[in-house]
Amino acid sequence: MMFSLCNALCFLMFLFVVPLECKSEGYEPASNCSTVECPPYVVIYSQKEFEIRSYKEALWVSGPKILNTSFVPAFPNAILTLDAYYGGKNVQHVKIDKTAPIFVDVQPALYYVQNTTYTANYYVPKRYQNGIPTPLSPEIKPVKLPKYKYAAVNRITFGLLDDAIFLGLTALKRSLQGTPYQRAATFNQVTVVTYNPYSPNDPSINSDGFNEVLVWFD
Ligand SMILES: *[C@@H]1O[C@H](CO)[C@@H](O)[C@H](O)[C@H]1NC(C)=O
Ligand SMILES: *[C@@H]1O[C@H](CO)[C@@H](O)[C@H](O)[C@H]1NC(C)=O
Ligand SMILES: *[C@@H]1O[C@H](CO)[C@@H](O)[C@H](O)[C@H]1NC(C)=O
Repeated sequence: MMFSLCNALCFLMFLFVVPLECKSEGYEPASNCSTVECPPYVVIYSQKEFEIRSYKEALWVSGPKILNTSFVPAFPNAILTLDAYYGGKNVQHVKIDKTAPIFVDVQPALYYVQNTTYTANYYVPKRYQNGIPTPLSPEIKPVKLPKYKYAAVNRITFGLLDDAIFLGLTALKRSLQGTPYQRAATFNQVTVVTYNPYSPNDPSINSDGFNEVLVWFD
């Protein structure tokens, strides 16, 4: 009797638990997300080379558009104003808890990641999702993200240097070919994602050990 009850339970677990586990497969969540708030997303498909995420719409803040010939010098400039804003440069003089990751939109990113504008976006913690402290800088703007339903994501274990980003994107677009998501490859809405704002060019410095390149699509 006990035995068959156990068998029945195992069968139920197989039916319900296993599919749930399969559904949540994908890249390991970033380690930073156990200490700071990260934007929630659902993995709707994953394979070795990439995963497809659906981010929940939420409030973010965007910084100034930085024009440069390279991501490397643009990045610190892109996050400068946002760091100051989170650090208390707002009308209410409140410190906003740091979140991760940073989304850096690269536009346009048609052939290469160079010679474009870079815009950093910070996720707003839950506490301020219904209203952010008033920015002192007109360059800080609240934005609802994501603008697209899905993101195809490739995790890269090297730093955010132009060549590495370009190679990561090229590999992502190539691996999307022949999948139901290949339209993402031609859409060219590119975002570079870093969980390590103080070492984007050396992800090995801290425990996350990776960055991500992402293309949006509907
Ligand atoms: C790129 O950024 C660097 C460092 O801030 C700056 O010296 C350079 O003038 C910028 N280049 C362009 C084209 O804006
Ligand atoms: C970027 O723009 C500069 C100045 O217009 C040009 O000299 C350079 O070749 C461009 N680089 C790329 C990769 O397009
Ligand atoms: C992520 O974690 C690393 C340590 O592993 C830390 O240096 C970094 O500041 C964290 N990032 C954020 C946004 O908290």
